[in-house]
Amino acid sequence: NLRKINVFKTIGAIDNLKLNTNIEGNFGIGHTRWATHGKVSVPNAHPHFDCQKNIFVVHNGIIENYAEIKKWLQMLGHKFHSETDTEIIAHLIEEFQTKEKLTLEEAARKTFKLLSGTYALAIISRKEPFKIIVAKNSSPLLLGIGKDEFFVASDATALISYTKNIVYLGDKEFGILTPENYRVATIDAVPVAKTEYKINWQVKDSSKRKFKHYMLKEILETPNTIENAIRGRIVLKDGIVKFGGLEQLNKKIKNIRNIIVVGCGTAYYAGLIGKYLLEELSDIEVEVEQSSEFRYRKFVYDKKTAVLAISQSGETADTLAAIKEAKRKGLLTLGIVNVVGSSIAREVNAGIYNHAGPEISVASTKNFISQLVILTLLSIFLGRQRKLTRNQAIEILKELTNLPKKINLLFNQIINIKKIAKKYYQYPNFIFIGRKYNYPIALEGALKLKEVSYIHAEGFGGGELKHGPLALIDEKMPVIAIAPKNDVYSKMISNIEELKSRGAKIIGVITDKTSYQKLFNDFILIPKTLPVLEPILTVIPLQLFAYFCAVFKKLNPDKPRNLAKSVTVE
Ligand code: M6R
Repeated sequence: NLRKINVFKTIGAIDNLKLNTNIEGNFGIGHTRWATHGKVSVPNAHPHFDCQKNIFVVHNGIIENYAEIKKWLQMLGHKFHSETDTEIIAHLIEEFQTKEKLTLEEAARKTFKLLSGTYALAIISRKEPFKIIVAKNSSPLLLGIGKDEFFVASDATALISYTKNIVYLGDKEFGILTPENYRVATIDAVPVAKTEYKINWQVKDSSKRKFKHYMLKEILETPNTIENAIRGRIVLKDGIVKFGGLEQLNKKIKNIRNIIVVGCGTAYYAGLIGKYLLEELSDIEVEVEQSSEFRYRKFVYDKKTAVLAISQSGETADTLAAIKEAKRKGLLTLGIVNVVGSSIAREVNAGIYNHAGPEISVASTKNFISQLVILTLLSIFLGRQRKLTRNQAIEILKELTNLPKKINLLFNQIINIKKIAKKYYQYPNFIFIGRKYNYPIALEGALKLKEVSYIHAEGFGGGELKHGPLALIDEKMPVIAIAPKNDVYSKMISNIEELKSRGAKIIGVITDKTSYQKLFNDFILIPKTLPVLEPILTVIPLQLFAYFCAVFKKLNPDKPRNLAKSVTVE
């Protein structure tokens, strides 16, 4: 029966969803719900439908005015099956189709006009089979253009096994997919000509291959990620960095006096390291702010202020909103983004792509390292327009090209890191400390551990311990101390002594095992590098440590509970 629509819903992991594989058909929609309105339950899982079970809707986003619309629909006699905001969409379409005899497309457009909030929608109807209507406002939505087939998704990674040709929908646009073609129009039905982007990612990049988890695979891809971030961008003999994406704005970029870096989570921590790099190498004043805070605060700026967004997905709602706000104020906006053609990549005035390939694990690992490499290159690029000398630049760039080899050496520590994780994974709390370039790494190490292994962890600058956190220290508190031999090494050693004398168990991430070895209960030896490049090496053992703790706790590090890979709602 071509007009039958089968509905499958479940809660928990996607693997729990048992699809009837005997179904015949050639169109369908699906969605993993991120609970915003109503508990995690089967009735609240998508798709949602109207009273007659004709119209089916999946939705990513939040409909802010759903309560009043729901009340109105209930007054008209509509019966609701869930507590979600999404369900009103199916009932609105039903209402307009029955009362006003509209087609699915007309009723959908009328519905979109009533919605306030954010949405990426896919809608099908039993009465008009072989048609998917999609619409977007703020939440990401893209079409995959295959050979005799079309797809719709929130993220390009989902589509690369099927097609490399992507069309991004703009806000307040809707699209109609049929077996023959697709078209895109504004909500007022004015046709929109769309550009097709080509995604260069390979299917092998997004498969787990021999690895049990993407997280491990992606950490092990780091040497390659660094090479991809550097490729074609440096002229070593001249100490010069080139970014194709920034060329058209060269004059404006030369005039930048201060940069505000915005990002969330791991991308924000990359930004914190970016501050150290940009200030040290290019003498530009830098402020770093979580996008969710930045977008609502009054900040001081002038014509020479640039706002730099860092985002792997290019879809993080808060970072996108921060960039929109900066643009509204007339500021130059720049981006460091991994996903080609993503919303942030399209929104900024100029940008730099990571070329890190797809990152599937929710925990950001290889792309964080790529962000650090790009920030180093950007600092040299801007520095060479200012005071950084050719020789200083050459020294850093040369060492940057050596890092893939050094990381491969560091991977010899994997068995040691696994052993350390086995010894400590049952501790409920951890502290991470670092100084200077490794202070944000302490924050990132703690985030990684919390995120994948659900162990409570906090990161601190070593110098801050005596201002409060030291009170937490006793023999039940392991501390991971990031202490490569650099200009703050002796300060770090003093901090570690303070911890040791209060009973803490210390795990060191160190470059020098001869001195002070007795201070560490366990240590991970990493290769030495220039201080500006240290974070690229010091973070890897912390990523691996978090990974192994999750594995020993029998958790799936790729899909931590309550988290999504790209956070497209505020
Ligand atoms: O895609 P984005 O880089 O904008 O994502 C930002 C954060 O949501 C992300 O880095 C998050 O903190 C990671 N899951 C951390 O591993």
